[in-house]
Amino acid sequence: MNYDAALEQAIQRLHDEGRYRTFIDIERRKGAYPQAVWTRPDGSETEITVWCGNDYLGMGQHPAVLAAMHEALDATGAGSGGTRNISGTTVYHKRLEAELADLHGKESALVFSSAYIANDATLSTLRKLFPGLIIYSDELNHASMIEGIKRFDGAKRIFRHNDVEHLRELLAADDPALPKLIAFESIYSMDGDFGPIAEICDLAVEFNALTYLDEVHAVGMYGPRGGGVAERDGLMDRIDIFNGTLGKAFGVFGGYIAASARMCDAIRSYAPGFIFTTSIPPAVAAGAAASIAFLKTAGGQELRDAQQLHARILKMRLRGLGLPIDDRGSHIVPVHVGNPVHCKALSDMLLSDFGIYVQPINFPTVPRGTERLRFTPSPVHDSQQIDHLVRAMDALWSRCALNRQVAVA
Ligand SMILES: Cc1ncc(COP(=O)(O)O)c(C=O)c1O
Repeated sequence: MNYDAALEQAIQRLHDEGRYRTFIDIERRKGAYPQAVWTRPDGSETEITVWCGNDYLGMGQHPAVLAAMHEALDATGAGSGGTRNISGTTVYHKRLEAELADLHGKESALVFSSAYIANDATLSTLRKLFPGLIIYSDELNHASMIEGIKRFDGAKRIFRHNDVEHLRELLAADDPALPKLIAFESIYSMDGDFGPIAEICDLAVEFNALTYLDEVHAVGMYGPRGGGVAERDGLMDRIDIFNGTLGKAFGVFGGYIAASARMCDAIRSYAPGFIFTTSIPPAVAAGAAASIAFLKTAGGQELRDAQQLHARILKMRLRGLGLPIDDRGSHIVPVHVGNPVHCKALSDMLLSDFGIYVQPINFPTVPRGTERLRFTPSPVHDSQQIDHLVRAMDALWSRCALNRQVAVA
């Protein structure tokens, strides 16, 4: 085997399919975010505005978060020094889990290295707990759920995106005696659309299924205490297992599930992805706990309101230019380009000509023909930055001779 040649071919395949990813090297400036410094491939530096970050509320630079992290770092040092089982459970981890359980109105929570790992580890472990379990999964679920369900090694059914009737057909076709779990998201981050939580919970009751809700793009963002869409809609007690991240609206790092004490105890005991890995650093746990606690307050609600306002303004202004904005009512602003080459070219020109950083979203993250730019306005983007972005999009849309009439339903 010529290993180098095999690697070369694998990489070339991605180039041929236009799927090779280029990472943009940026350094955020504390206190100045969304401003950051972009280091170009030649080593020169340019100041840019980040328009595609998932630090949706700017909590990554919030003084309460930074103070908690500094304090924990000075008190206890850098790493946790172990797995949760072997010396890696600290008062910071316990406090964070208590904060999360409270956020979702659950008895318990478990912190993982990321929401990706939390999804993968939890979903793949469920078969050990519920022999014969069938998992029903929305076709647009995130890669981390798909990986967990692949490794789950039991029966799986994929229902059409948000199609409750299709889900019902699939549930009805299976043996009523078998255990079942429905896995879905509250906000699908590429389109910014909401999952039909209440309807899916109704089906879960009818077919005696468990519900598993990924609220990764919603925690911190929706609900009076930032508990997510289920909190906003008064549905928290109808969800059996919540999944969330500490790395997006909470602005830090890590992931979790929140559920009953018995469910968390079982996952804690059986999931290799929880047991056999070093726990997150105490300072990270402290920062995340401070962020969650802050976002439960009136100060958090102000940030959520400002974020929603900026999202509405940006959608309105881009729509006013005739650009195809797909508005599904959430905080995400996708602009459909519909062509991978144009999408990449727009992104490149926004960065190099206007200092605006928005990563192109191409296949396989989204289906071919639906390539897009996905903007994530935050409370820390000011009106001048919004203005600059709108003018730049206007100029580039004309330069690329892109259609302004196409409205996406
Ligand atoms: C829906 C969804 N679930 C899970 C994850 C993973 O989150 P994390 O970045 O904490 O691993 C993501 C990340 O983008 C996501 O979009």
